[in-house]
Amino acid sequence: MVETSRARTRAADPALPTAIFSERVRDCFSGAANHYEAEARIQRAIAWRLGHLCRPLAIGPGPRADLGAGTGLLARSIALQRPDLNLVRLDNCQALLESEPPGREASTRLLWDLNLGLPAQLAGASLLASSFALQWLEQPRRHLDQWASQLARGGWLVLAVPCAASFQQWRQAAERARVPFTGLALPAASELIEAAECQLQLLRCQRLRFSRRRPQALAFLRELKAIGAQASTAGQLSPAELRRLQAHWPPRAGECPLEWEVLLLLARKP
Ligand SMILES: C[S@@+](CC[C@H](N)C(=O)[O-])C[C@H]1O[C@@H](n2cnc3c(N)ncnc32)[C@H](O)[C@@H]1O
Repeated sequence: MVETSRARTRAADPALPTAIFSERVRDCFSGAANHYEAEARIQRAIAWRLGHLCRPLAIGPGPRADLGAGTGLLARSIALQRPDLNLVRLDNCQALLESEPPGREASTRLLWDLNLGLPAQLAGASLLASSFALQWLEQPRRHLDQWASQLARGGWLVLAVPCAASFQQWRQAAERARVPFTGLALPAASELIEAAECQLQLLRCQRLRFSRRRPQALAFLRELKAIGAQASTAGQLSPAELRRLQAHWPPRAGECPLEWEVLLLLARKP
């Protein structure tokens, strides 16, 4: 059962382009809900690492949530490694929230658009965890500021976000092919670190690199689509542009792998 807690509909939002993009993101993830878990390999690996980071933490009372939880990969990974922590799964995509495999304990799920800020019931949170979700929000840095300010004293932030140094190979191929780069504009890791440092004490701050040895542009774009992560403000390439991109993609990907830069933060509010 998913609790609906929308403060207002996005259609009423004056920032129409943002609202439209947010709905497109939600529709893309909705369309991939049935296969998200099977295809989300990097997200699964990162969820495990974040869960591992939570093992030794002394976590006080107060709300605990997985922000942009999707099917609950991160919340489940934390619960497996810290059985005393059952996080609220918050997301604006009902289909993903409902796709969470049944677990031993009932989980609380909350349908909420994070572009509206955090819901009131998360004020004074003792743990805010989020993986691969912040980059989908309008102004990720501003939202990170808000998340940090909603933590209780002694509360924890456990975060993973793909950042701007990702996908250099794709950018270069698009430039050579003279087609637009249609990936999501990702936040700069340095900006997010700076924002977190303003309010929080950083106990772990790492920029991880993950490589995908996919030789073909189309195969990689299909991978993104398989998890619903294809939405972009840059629109879509035409079939002719796709063929050009494919033709300019490095032939031997092993020599020039497609890389994700993932910022991983563990931080505490003093
Ligand atoms: C790549 S998935 C990551 C899901 C999960 N955290 C994981 O690691 O598997 C990105 C998630 O962010 C959610 N999301 C994107 N924009 C959102 C918004 N405005 N409000 C709430 N959730 C959002 C998507 O619905 C999706 O579940």
